[in-house]
Parts: sequence; structure tokens; C-alpha cells
Amino acid sequence: MGKKIRKAVFPVAGMGTRFLPATKASPKEMLPLVDKPMIQYVVEEAVEAGITQMIMVTGRNKHSIEDHFDKSVELELLLAGKGDEANLEMARKISEMCEFCYIRQKEPKGLGHAILRAREIVGDEPFAVLLGDDIIHSPGRPVIGQLMETFDIKQAPVIAVEKVPMENVSSYGVVDPSGELEGALHQIKSMVEKPPIDKAPSNLAIIGRYILTPEIFDFIDATKPDAKGEIQLTTALNSQLEKTTAYALEFSGTRYDAGDKLGFLIATVEYALRSEPLGEKFREYLKKIKL
Ligand code: G1P
Repeated sequence: MGKKIRKAVFPVAGMGTRFLPATKASPKEMLPLVDKPMIQYVVEEAVEAGITQMIMVTGRNKHSIEDHFDKSVELELLLAGKGDEANLEMARKISEMCEFCYIRQKEPKGLGHAILRAREIVGDEPFAVLLGDDIIHSPGRPVIGQLMETFDIKQAPVIAVEKVPMENVSSYGVVDPSGELEGALHQIKSMVEKPPIDKAPSNLAIIGRYILTPEIFDFIDATKPDAKGEIQLTTALNSQLEKTTAYALEFSGTRYDAGDKLGFLIATVEYALRSEPLGEKFREYLKKIKL
């Protein structure tokens, strides 16, 4: 029997400069898509996949994330006093759906550096990583759960990938798949972080969902900072590939790059259209506006 994934790491220390001034004093992870902060969608994805412990790697100005997932006694008393059972249940669920712990990343030194901060809490077991900028709609089939199913079989690192237009590859980590393909699963030959178009080995872009094994920590530790001073997870994973096999899964689901203003707006419109009872009225409104 292989090890089960129980823990997920969420790197949430970023400054969110792409959303200034909204993120000057509040975290971008708390920006709402319709009525729910972005980070809650990602945590719910992990909960739906059966993960029970969420490890948030935070930084300055991130207290509202902790407060959001904590019990709000005042709010619950207020809602109970009003007899608002629906909202009371919703508020309780947010703090009770799983266990949370928080560690600080003191300096923004890249994704690899953030994940290394979680080493002690993760310990010697495989774990998930979820990046809050990637919001994925895949009802009934959480993408991190799709990766966990693959991990159960392969007992090796699994990374989510998606084919993107070639002109966009330099915004992502890019995977060089080996020839072997089992359905949507590629064995990885190598990977590179944000290559120029002419150096990209494919158009299979890494999306922010990973199942990693604890060996990754030593590889991150040995990774040198890049030109921007950041320790990249992709570089560490690429070194790990010399010792281990790893896989890239073309997941099923619709991914939104909500870390970008346009992507965030697209996600907002599409989630609003899907939400009930708001969606129908919103659709009517959109049909009427003159563009
Ligand atoms: C990070 C990773 C990159 C990946 C991307 C997915 O980059 O370093 O490999 O493709 O997330 O969202 P970031 O977008 O944080 O710069």
C-alpha cells in the first residue's frame, strides 16, 4: 500500500502586485469570485479530494486569510440571534471543514523557497501543493484528486499540465514529455521554468497543482536562486527527475488564470453565470448591454 496524501501546502505569501491598489493592504487570495474569496475555492478543492490538513505559507498583510478560516464567534452569535440558519451553517462549515496551520515565508524568494518552509510540518510523506491563482472548475472531479488518483498508482510526483498557445509558454513552467503516453498521462523527460518561445520543449504548461514526495525538500535546498533571486520549484523538480520518474497529467476541467486581471474578470463572469439564483438575472443583463 502506498502512502495517502493528507496534507496540502498553499503558498500565499505573494504581494499580489498585479492587483494593486486592491492588494495594497489586503491579500489577493481574499479577492472574491462572486461571493467567495479565491482561496476558499482552492481549499474546498483539496477538501473535496479528501485532504485534511491545509498548510498555508503566508507573509505580511495576510491575517484576513487566517481570520476567514477561523471560527467567528461574533458572526455566529449574530446569525443565531436572527435565526439565519443557512448563513450560520455556511459560516460554521468554513472553519470546520479541515485543519489549518500557518507558517511565515519572511521574504518572497520564490515558489520553491515557500514550499521548503513547510518541510517540518509536512514531514516524511507525500503532499499536495495548490496555487491560488489557478482556479479550476471541474464539478465532482477536483483536479488535485485527479492527480492523487495517479499518485496512488505510480507512487511518484505528478504535476498538472495544460496545452497552451505557443505564444504564452513563457508565462509558465513547461514540461518536455517523453514519448510515453498513457491516456492523458505523460512521463516527464525534463522541465524548464518560463522559457523563451524558441527554447520551450513543448506547449504543455504547468498549472498550479502538484503531488510531490518529501525528497523534493533536499532538491529545493540544493537549488540556486535564479536571476531574479527566486528559488524555483520547477528547477528543483528537474533535478529530482535525474533520480525519480515523474508524471504530467493533462487534467479535465476548465482553468482560469485568476492571478491576472483579465483572467480574474473572465472567471468572475463565468462563475457568476453558473451561480444560483444570480446566474439567470446576470445572463439577462449581459444580453442587454451594448458593446
Ligand atoms: C508558478 C510556477 C510555474 C507554473 C505557474 C502556474 O509560476 O513557477 O511553473 O507554470 O505557477 O500558475 P507563477 O505564475 O507563480 O510565476
